[in-house]
Amino acid sequence: MLVLGIETSCDETAAAVVEDGRRVLSSVVATQFELHAQYGGVVPEIAARRHLESILPVIQAALDQAGVTLKEIDGLAAAQGPGLIGALVIGMAVAKALAFTLKRPLAGVHHLQAHILAAFLTDSPPAFPFIALVVSGGHTNLYKVRGFRDMDLLGRSRDDAAGEAFDKVAKLLRLGYPGGVKIEALAREGDPGVYPLPRPRIPEEPLTFSFSGLKTAVVHQVKKHPEILEDPVAQAHLAAGFQESVVESLVSRAWLALEETGCTRLVVCGGVAANGRLRQVLQEQAGATGMELFLPPLNLCTDNAAMVAAAGYYQLQAGERLDLDADVFSRG
Ligand code: KG4
Ligand code: ZN
Repeated sequence: MLVLGIETSCDETAAAVVEDGRRVLSSVVATQFELHAQYGGVVPEIAARRHLESILPVIQAALDQAGVTLKEIDGLAAAQGPGLIGALVIGMAVAKALAFTLKRPLAGVHHLQAHILAAFLTDSPPAFPFIALVVSGGHTNLYKVRGFRDMDLLGRSRDDAAGEAFDKVAKLLRLGYPGGVKIEALAREGDPGVYPLPRPRIPEEPLTFSFSGLKTAVVHQVKKHPEILEDPVAQAHLAAGFQESVVESLVSRAWLALEETGCTRLVVCGGVAANGRLRQVLQEQAGATGMELFLPPLNLCTDNAAMVAAAGYYQLQAGERLDLDADVFSRG
């Protein structure tokens, strides 16, 4: 079954053709980051307008690269939420129009579930059950995953998402947008021990994440040592200290979830899973504890439509159909 996936939940316009939820025939991502960089973050109205301009050419490119025509598509899948409403609406409207005219079924895909199912687009997909850590710009969620459509939330961030913290700290250090990649590059040159930062914990909720205190601690360090902003070496130390704290927070809770559930497999996905230091620490920890680690390649970690097509495939196989009057959603 060939599914055309469409993803427009934030600032990437993406389309992909995936066969049987496993084989990626094409995956096209048009990023908008240069549009938003001057504002230091995603501007929803600008994102929506760019999606509108890009969506049809991106879909055409995905069909061309897959070597298929629209008539050969068996089903449609579009991100339904969570995300920016004005952005989601563009992808969903196009998906509905295609489903209606082609008379094909449509799946409304949960963006975070799609991030998890990206692990099934790799050569060695995980077996069920497994723990999934989804670390993106909007979410930091831990799930126990029993099946393609069967996942329980074990923990989440009570305030900022990990990616959001990367973006805010990058802005504070005047590194620009998107923040994660810039912090990672700078941190490579720094020593995390120079500016010690807290490792926030909530004793009564050990699987809950919190990153706003860490961000505030970075603000305090900059206030205490304003020279940091003028000194690239000091900036690198602070970026490294921040990154190390986020990585420790993510890895320790993921392992706690593995221990508490007795699961032996861990999937880590979402944009922050592209972070090299996080990947390195996860690999070391997996090696030391004998857990099986599944880290999708970078292009499947950041937003893409192949993951949406894969998630949509399992929904369509289960007989789930999105009504053509269904709405998109921002949270959940
Ligand atoms: O999953 P994603 O592409 O979009 C959302 O669904 O939010 O995640 C985007 C987030 C941004 O906050 C970005 O700064 C972060 O992922 N990110 C990174 C890296 N690459 C992207 N964070 C840390 N290190 C990276 N290399
Ligand atoms: Zn995402």
